[in-house]
Parts: sequence; structure tokens; C-alpha cells
Amino acid sequence: MADLIDLKQKLSRRIFLSGVSAGAFAGLMPSFAGRALAGTPAYVVEPKAGRAQLLDPGEPKTGIWGYDGHAPGPILRAKQGKPFWVKLRNGLMEPTTIHWHGIRIDNAMDGVPDLTQAPVPPGGTFDYRFTPQDAGTYWYHSHYRGYEQVARGLNGVFIVEEEDPPAVDRDIVLAFDDWRLMENGEIHSESFGSIRDRSHAGRLGNILTLNGAPSYDVTVRSGEKVRLRLVNVANARVLDIAFPGHTPKVVALDGQPVTPFDAGKGDLVLAPGQRIDLIMDMGAGPGQKTPIEVDTGRETIVAGHINYRKDVRTKLHSGEPISALPLNPLPINVDLNEAMDVDIVMTGGAMSFFEQAVYRGKNFPARELVREHGQVWALNGVAGMPKAPLFRAARGRAVKIRLVNNTRWPHGMHFHGHHVREIARNRGTVRPHWRDTVLVQPEEEIMVAFLADNPGKWLIHCHMLEHQVGGMITWFEVA
Ligand code: C2O
Ligand code: CU
Repeated sequence: MADLIDLKQKLSRRIFLSGVSAGAFAGLMPSFAGRALAGTPAYVVEPKAGRAQLLDPGEPKTGIWGYDGHAPGPILRAKQGKPFWVKLRNGLMEPTTIHWHGIRIDNAMDGVPDLTQAPVPPGGTFDYRFTPQDAGTYWYHSHYRGYEQVARGLNGVFIVEEEDPPAVDRDIVLAFDDWRLMENGEIHSESFGSIRDRSHAGRLGNILTLNGAPSYDVTVRSGEKVRLRLVNVANARVLDIAFPGHTPKVVALDGQPVTPFDAGKGDLVLAPGQRIDLIMDMGAGPGQKTPIEVDTGRETIVAGHINYRKDVRTKLHSGEPISALPLNPLPINVDLNEAMDVDIVMTGGAMSFFEQAVYRGKNFPARELVREHGQVWALNGVAGMPKAPLFRAARGRAVKIRLVNNTRWPHGMHFHGHHVREIARNRGTVRPHWRDTVLVQPEEEIMVAFLADNPGKWLIHCHMLEHQVGGMITWFEVA
């Protein structure tokens, strides 16, 4: 099918070109050309089944679901400020949608089933058309039964290119995923959305992959300066990345540029959904091999290596100072005095279970909520997606949200359609960065602020996807 589309595009271009050379209808050409170009999606992506070598070579392959059959899917690239169009063609046996994680997008393109669009049925298509305002590293993933579809592989990296990108010799995407596989290599599907995973840390896996491989090697030259785009596409695993022998500088978080700083301890922690952009000098000698390490909290895993080529030693951009990325047009002037105050108090989960919570407008005892509805978490005493928004903000209103984690588990709280800035916390030092996903540890309280400037209905949910389906989800409306 994808081939057919491409062929048609080529054909229409050829017809157009022959028209030009004939010189006929010259006056009509510009509008015709405009329409011909506007009629072409940059990508057609098809979520469908595929097989992937997630285990070491020689071991069995794994049946996955991926965009175009790959997990992660193809890297999609758009240009900042330029219209972008992806056509989704659903090759699955069940509905799906695509969410453009971190993109300040038109609400209708946000990909949330039943809130912003109808789920796309098997065989159906949907046109995602939007103009990304912010450059940076983002990702796309299913938002339909995400705890299963994302775990099966429906995720990919989405890059919005700066008009004036930083001077680096190489741009490297590193997408980390965590899989729960059985001995025979297949995905452990029995446990999708299990109460155990919902009520604990989420679906933690037993196989870590980097760019879809059990071990992923990056080849560089000594003396290069590289940009690394780290993305955590795992359902639930918090990852702490390290590049021994190198001194990476953080240049962006969740797509938003920061004043570059040296990555110290804890600075390369990625909650599910989060991204970090680094710029790094490749300072080791020719022929060297250094590990890419991931600390999962329990063990350190070598996810791949940086291989230095032997043959060449070139003096490229290495050693040049790293300048900050150009800022995105975020609405950063938030008048805190005028701000609406919102609390989000997280309760529930194993070891501090709530006694009751509201679900679909009714009060339920915990036991019934768990057994009948799989709900194990609550936000402000409400489990699951409420009918009414958590708050309504007039467009342009400043909002302050206090995220209070009264559970025994970390939560990566994700905001749709907006980036939020940390302005206060009850422990440690404030990290005043703009993020779309904020990791809140047990007993932490983090205050974030933002300008609600994007009209529509927007989710706030935990990006540990089992927590999301297990109750940690709400929404707000900007009118
Ligand atoms: Cu990355 Cu609501 O999701
Ligand atoms: Cu959570």
C-alpha cells in the first residue's frame, strides 16, 4: 500500500513537470503546484505486526507490533514552524491512535481516544497534520490501550529540526526500551495490565534494548562532537544513563533547550516518556570502545558501545565551546501572582492503598475498585478519567500545580499540549526546567507552573502506563 501511494506522488509530480515544460496553462501552475505539494504526507506510518531480534543473535526473535513493523518505529523528522503531515494507516487487528508526546499541538491532533479523536479502526486511516512550534527531541506512540500497544513496540522518535542546528559532526538517537519476554522470545502477554503491575512499579521488563537491539553500537571518530538524543520509551522503567569516559553536556530536556550544563550524578535519569539532548566530545583515542551504561536501580546494564574508528583521526568540532540551542517560542512569562492554584495529590498503590475512591462519579471501597475496575490509584481521591475536567482555565491563564506524591512509588506525571516549569519542591534543589514529564518521587511535592495557552482538552497522567490505566489520569480544559 505504501508503495502505491509513493508511486502516485511520483506520477502527479511528473505530470506537473511535463505541464511546465509544455508551457501550457502557465498562469494556473502556481496554485496547482501548491495543491500538489500540499497533497503529500511526509510519512505514511503503518502500525502492524513484525518480528524483531530483541534477544542476542542466534536466540529466537520476538513478535512485536511496531510502526511499519519496527520497534522503535522509523525516526520521523519535521522542520520547526513548517506544516507537517503523517498519515496513519492502521494495520493492526484493533483500533489505535498516535500521540505526539511533548508537542504543543492542535488539540484535534493530540491522539487521545475519545477525548480528541475517535480511535482509528483496523484498516482505517487518520491524517495527523500540524505545525510544530518547538524544535527538539520528541516521540510518538500509541495512546490506545497504551499499556499494551506501547509495550508491544508502538513507539518511535520524533525530531523537530532547528532552523539553525548546532554545529556537531553527528546526530545520534538513542531510544531505550524495556521488554518482558518469555524463554521462547515472545512477549509475556498474559501480564499486560495486571493488577500487580498496576499497583507496583508498572510493567518492568527483563530485557533492555537500545534502538530495538539487545546491544547497539554507535560508531564515531575520535575528535568529533556529537549530539545524543536520549529517549525512554519504556512503559515503566526509570533509567539512569551513563557514558563512562565522556563528559556529556545537557543541552535540552523534553525538547526544551536549557543553559548547557555538565551532566552530574542523577542528571541523566530518564523517567518513561522523558528525553535528554546531550552534546558530547568524543575524546577517546582511535580504536577505543566505551560502554553505554544503564542503571535500572537494581543493576547496571551495558546497552551498547561507542566504537571509535581506528583508521581516522580528524580534528572536527571537538573542543569547540558548546553554545545553547536556540530557545523555542514557549510562553515563559508566567505571572505567578495571577496564577490559578491546583493540587494533584496522588494516593493508592501497593503498601499505602486507599480505603475508597471515586470512580465514574461514585464512591467505591478499594476492594471493589480493584476487583471490578482495576483501579488502584487516585488523583485527589478520584480514580480513572473523570467526566469533568480537573480544572478549566481561560486561554492565557497562568496555572500553578502542586504535585504531591503520597504513595510509595515514583510517578512520571505527563502534561499534554504544554510544558511546565518546576518552581518549588519540598526536598533538594529546584530544577527550573521546562518539561512535559515530571518525575515525582515518594513523599515529594513539586510545584510546577505554566501558561495554559493551548485551547482544548488535555490529559495529565502518569507515564508509567500501568499506573495510567490503573487510575492515574485526569484532564484539564483550556477555553
Ligand atoms: Cu506520552 Cu498521554 O502520553
Ligand atoms: Cu505512576
